[in-house]
Amino acid sequence: MKYLLHTYGCQMNVRDAEGVAACLEAAGHLPAVDEADADVIVVNTCSVRGKAEEKALGKLGLLCAGKRLAPHRLVGVMGCMAQRRGAELLKKIPKLDFVAGTRQQQSIPEILARLVAGERGLVRLDDAAAVPRVPSAHLTGPVSAFVTVLLGCNRRCAYCVVPDVRGAEYSRPAAEIFDEVRQLVASGVREVTLLGQSVMNYGRSNPVWEGVRASSAGFREDFPRLLEAVSAMPGIRRIRFTSGHPSGITDELVRAMATLPHICPHLHLPVQSGSDRILGLMRRGYTAAQYLDAVARLRTAIPEFALTTDIIVGFPTETEADFQATRHLMEGAAFDNAFVFKYSPRPGTPAAAQCDDVPAAEKARRNQVLLDDQDTRGLRLNEACVGHTLEVLAEGVSLRNEERWSGRTPGNKIVAFEPPPSIAAGDLVAVRITRAGPQTLVGEVAGEGCRPIQQRL
Ligand code: SAH
Ligand code: SF4
Ligand code: F3S
Repeated sequence: MKYLLHTYGCQMNVRDAEGVAACLEAAGHLPAVDEADADVIVVNTCSVRGKAEEKALGKLGLLCAGKRLAPHRLVGVMGCMAQRRGAELLKKIPKLDFVAGTRQQQSIPEILARLVAGERGLVRLDDAAAVPRVPSAHLTGPVSAFVTVLLGCNRRCAYCVVPDVRGAEYSRPAAEIFDEVRQLVASGVREVTLLGQSVMNYGRSNPVWEGVRASSAGFREDFPRLLEAVSAMPGIRRIRFTSGHPSGITDELVRAMATLPHICPHLHLPVQSGSDRILGLMRRGYTAAQYLDAVARLRTAIPEFALTTDIIVGFPTETEADFQATRHLMEGAAFDNAFVFKYSPRPGTPAAAQCDDVPAAEKARRNQVLLDDQDTRGLRLNEACVGHTLEVLAEGVSLRNEERWSGRTPGNKIVAFEPPPSIAAGDLVAVRITRAGPQTLVGEVAGEGCRPIQQRL
């Protein structure tokens, strides 16, 4: 059969979709070029905000309506919304063929086989008691790959649906992760991003080190140990990990980032708010001062450290003063980039029991103010890169301008540049920055090949 996957949501979902694709291809299925060409279409969904669910529902509605013209085409839903709403989706979308939860990637080929045999309306949700099976095969090209290391989330921030849909934390055995990374590197991958919701909690939920040697750098905490082992793998050039939580910024983590080879000097460390009162209501487990202290320790140890974040505006009871505290914190933390979200009440979360009392127009205003602030700040920080030569991992033709290529610096800044004739995806090139925008940099290649070069930002 020919399959097509539509993915919404975060990197975790992107990786899950790739895992499903790899499982389907191992079972003999082939990728479709477009919807018309597909025998089965799976929508991999996100539940984090109401809008994300609406989008996925809209897409599923259209796909199922399209069955009038192609009655044999199968349509399924997987991922976070599928896990949250389960069998209810079959009632809501009558022609839907299956619903699969967030830990069911390896079940999809079997579900398809059953559908082909005539079964309909299959629902396969996660079993909290089962040990998750995580596909380790990849399909991606030569540059970078996501590797899931920690499933689920135990934190239960008051607004967040992720722990409900992704289940309790489960850390994959270290040996399994090493095998996956080794295979990726053997297939030419240069950069891996280790994924988890609070990725520094790796190893805290279940034993992971069976049969694996202890740290030679003296790390006792599991996540720094994992970083040490991955960074020692021959052929790896860049290691990233996401997302972080300030509680994970331990002295060992800082030492790992500062001393191990290939660890990129960048963290995505969602802060959500700069107001201690709101952080308390959100149950984030830190104050603004503690967050800034974690950032200061990282910046002291890692000179070129780059920092990005997530913010929620309009959490219940957020006042103008709370909002101004967020603006203040964002300036103090000097974020290189920020994703700003309007609070969306999620059914079943503690915050949803509170009145969603910040009007939509006010959320939109606060959202825009923070985006404008960030543009100004991003431009200022990026302009400081002009004249410097940065190491860029070439990814391919730029999406914005076909004559250029783009890639990322170790600090995760996007750089567009005119490609030398011999360029190939996966090359590490030295690029001298000539222009800066709020989100991107433009530069000229100052050297080719894979020589490690001094990174200045
Ligand atoms: N595990 C990650 C976040 C995953 S969700 C972390 O904690 O770092 C990605 C982002 O969506 C969050 O950081 C938060 O900013 C936003 N988000 C989560 N729930 C939300 C909600 N109910 N309304 C608006 N934004 C939300
Ligand atoms: Fe959600 Fe908080 Fe877990 Fe992140 S850490 S996934 S925001 S509950
Ligand atoms: Fe990611 Fe959305 Fe699920 S943010 S974890 S795909 S709810």
